[in-house]
Amino acid sequence: MKTGEAVRWERLTKGSNNALRSDRPNLFYPVYVDPEHGRIAKVGDPVPLNVDRKTVPEEPGLVTVWPLSMTGVEKRWQCSADTFQSLVDQGMAKVGSYDRKNDRWSILYLNRGQRERIERDEIRVTGQDPNGVLELEMNERPLRAAMTIWNRSSHNAGYYGSGILSALLPDRKFPFPKSLYAVEDSLRLAVGDKPDALVIDFFAGSGTTAHALARLNREDDGRRRSILVTNNEVSVAEAKALREQGFSPGDPAWEDLGICRHITIPRMRAAVTGISSTGNPLKGEYKFGQVFPMSDGLDENVEFFDLTYEDAAMVSLGRRFEAIAPLLWMKAGTKGVRIDKISDRGWEVLDDATYGVLFNTSNWPSFVEAVVKRKSEALPLSHLFIVTDSPVEFQQIAGRIDQGIELVRLYADYLRTFEINTPRRNRSVGDGWRRPAVPRQRDNEQTSVP
Ligand SMILES: C[S@@+](CC[C@H](N)C(=O)[O-])C[C@H]1O[C@@H](n2cnc3c(N)ncnc32)[C@H](O)[C@@H]1O
Repeated sequence: MKTGEAVRWERLTKGSNNALRSDRPNLFYPVYVDPEHGRIAKVGDPVPLNVDRKTVPEEPGLVTVWPLSMTGVEKRWQCSADTFQSLVDQGMAKVGSYDRKNDRWSILYLNRGQRERIERDEIRVTGQDPNGVLELEMNERPLRAAMTIWNRSSHNAGYYGSGILSALLPDRKFPFPKSLYAVEDSLRLAVGDKPDALVIDFFAGSGTTAHALARLNREDDGRRRSILVTNNEVSVAEAKALREQGFSPGDPAWEDLGICRHITIPRMRAAVTGISSTGNPLKGEYKFGQVFPMSDGLDENVEFFDLTYEDAAMVSLGRRFEAIAPLLWMKAGTKGVRIDKISDRGWEVLDDATYGVLFNTSNWPSFVEAVVKRKSEALPLSHLFIVTDSPVEFQQIAGRIDQGIELVRLYADYLRTFEINTPRRNRSVGDGWRRPAVPRQRDNEQTSVP
């Protein structure tokens, strides 16, 4: 953090795909904006689920703002009407920018993490604007070196590694997971002041990293994301027993016992939903840092993918688009919906996705037109993937797209990313390429908070 750095105000609309009005009706209420002075004039009462929002009376001279997605789906706000009213009173909520094109006002607020930073004096209040909204600046934090050896009871792997895993997965065993709190402390050290961090763990094992990061997000309302990769190995003892029963790697009986399927996936599902692998609310509570019942679950979205090997030639011919679809979504920041199919016109630009794909370059004019029209402040486009083997064609299209949107050429670029140990002289699609590994979604598995 540097002195004078801008302070982040969060959108009051809950961003995740599953944050619907119907999930938490008390978080669906009108916020009235005074458009002349750009201020929040009034906070309305929650509207029961069976009441049509259009029947709620307008306020004279004010604009009624609801938590709606770009396509008009009824979502919800991040905090209750009472909490929000008190934030407005304290100057901790404000009207964001006005999206003229879509006639939308955004409402911003200081989330719990930012409010705690004000209390800890990491954020300084420098004044108030004419609407009473706080003016803020970052204070510099004194840097401290971490000690080489940490000796904390919370880092005991026996209690807080295996113990937590048995609460989540009472019917399964996994040797030597790390203590959840040891990983959480390490992550706090590295990304505690980076609420948008992306953490990658290539040897994820039981998935402690994702679990700990989710708790860190809960602590300060952060939006950190993690990508975990693990193999699906079984333990030596299990391998021996399976062989004795006549099974080999690849057999369903063998693979079902592998760490990813048997531990990592069900562990994350249990941690997020608060329901154990045996279908019961989790027993016990988290003991360190934030203490709360494990059955509360964690407010995160999780997707599971299988990495498969794809034929490079098939991918470059475009026949395996659905296999690389998750990869494009991840590359574009894992926000919004995923584009799984390309329509017959040969391109896709969706209101709810942060990226677009041009598959058939002969239709590029209508694609470019859709991109230009699509611009929105609420969910801006960050990436465009253009499928062409011609650098010249790619440059021609790129010239018509606004700067600020990252353009990625497929598939040549994509295949190169996965090239491993390939001599330079063999750089052509064919024998010189290793088959790229791509993630495939596991039967549409998705774990989200109910
Ligand atoms: C030391 S463990 C990680 C433990 C993890 N931090 C936890 O708390 O559960 C390393 C894990 O990496 C996985 N692994 C080993 N070789 C791998 C590979 N080539 N690719 C991906 N994962 C691998 C193993 O399944 C093993 O569980």
